Amino acid sequence: MTASNDLAAAPRASADDFGALLAATRARIDERLGEWLRPRVAAATQISEEVGTVAAAVQELALRGGKRMRAALVAAAFEAWSTDAHRGPGAGAATWSPCEPAMMAVELLQTYLLIHDDWMDDDDVRRGGPAVHVLLREKLGARALGDAAGILAGDLASGYAQEALLETDLPVERVVRAARAFARIQVEVVTGQLAEMRAAGRAAGAAGLPSVETIHALKTASYTVTGPLLLGAALAGADDARAAELERFGRPLGIAFQLRDDLLGVFGDPSATGKPVWNDIRQGKRTALVAELRGDARASELLGRVFGKPDAAEADLEAVVRAMEDSGARGRVEARVRELSSEARAALDAMAPSMSDRGRAWLGGAVAALGERSA
Ligand code: IPE
Ligand code: IPE
Ligand code: MG
Ligand code: MG
Repeated sequence: MTASNDLAAAPRASADDFGALLAATRARIDERLGEWLRPRVAAATQISEEVGTVAAAVQELALRGGKRMRAALVAAAFEAWSTDAHRGPGAGAATWSPCEPAMMAVELLQTYLLIHDDWMDDDDVRRGGPAVHVLLREKLGARALGDAAGILAGDLASGYAQEALLETDLPVERVVRAARAFARIQVEVVTGQLAEMRAAGRAAGAAGLPSVETIHALKTASYTVTGPLLLGAALAGADDARAAELERFGRPLGIAFQLRDDLLGVFGDPSATGKPVWNDIRQGKRTALVAELRGDARASELLGRVFGKPDAAEADLEAVVRAMEDSGARGRVEARVRELSSEARAALDAMAPSMSDRGRAWLGGAVAALGERSA
């Protein structure tokens, strides 16, 4: 029997396997990020009150209850492949302590991307509180000033992210490989955001437009799943062959994560997601759900009334949501999430057996947790 057959026969990892790692990561990274940002906000405030206000807005969003999934994936990959003296002490959370700067870096990268994303998407609420540009409009007392400061707040978070990553105290060639992966995922996510912006409000299949899943792979899978795993693996000293395996695993899982986000954006509970519902429809975002609904001729007149219309009537939006259910659009997107999760599981089963059992359980648990999430 081959190693992969052995693994196929092993019990499936559940979301709980990843849940415990996520809880430990959240506690640790919230604490470390808080400590790390405090002197930086103080230094910014020394320059001027306004500079301090912008740094404090970054700090506020960075510490406002993210799931810390990306940080957990860095730790999972580090755990999966670190075998040497560079591993942290003991058997618990401390084993991944050498990669904590990279864990903070992916969360600061997320902070930067969310700040710019909310401004671009004109979303006022993030993680259950005001988006950073909204906060800064209020604090600086003028819309244009708040928006400009919002762009700079994102840039500042990006600078912090690079700074945190380069504090990693591991062999320099590993840190350089991680920094290269970090730069690459930023190129991907920004090109994905651009591709989505160009696609907004236009029909699926319109000439020259990438598919919804290509956009999801670039804007989300890159920095949400594949990137954090590549960072953790690079810092663990895993060889280059791992990169291709991680792409095969991370791409379907990251697309599934974004499809779930699209579903939650219509059918989710805002008190759990910390984000409002229906904004994707009002903004004319070409999500998978909208692409599916467009295939239904009966919905086209209705969709025309609300899609990309910021002041669409509530009753029309409710009718679109019902149409997404009745036409089977929701069911098809849910089915695709399951298919992509299976693809990720198969990619994990096919990975070289040289990873730790715990790392494999965490990655298997991540498939269940990301595909099934409700927040
Ligand atoms: C939100 O990511 C942005 C997307 C890629 C969909 P998360 O859902 O991971 O957000 P936080 O970090 O937990 O707030
Ligand atoms: C966010 O994408 C992905 C990023 C690059 C930050 P969305 O715009 O679809 O995500 P939400 O719904 O605002 O979190
Ligand atoms: Mg958005
Ligand atoms: Mg967006």
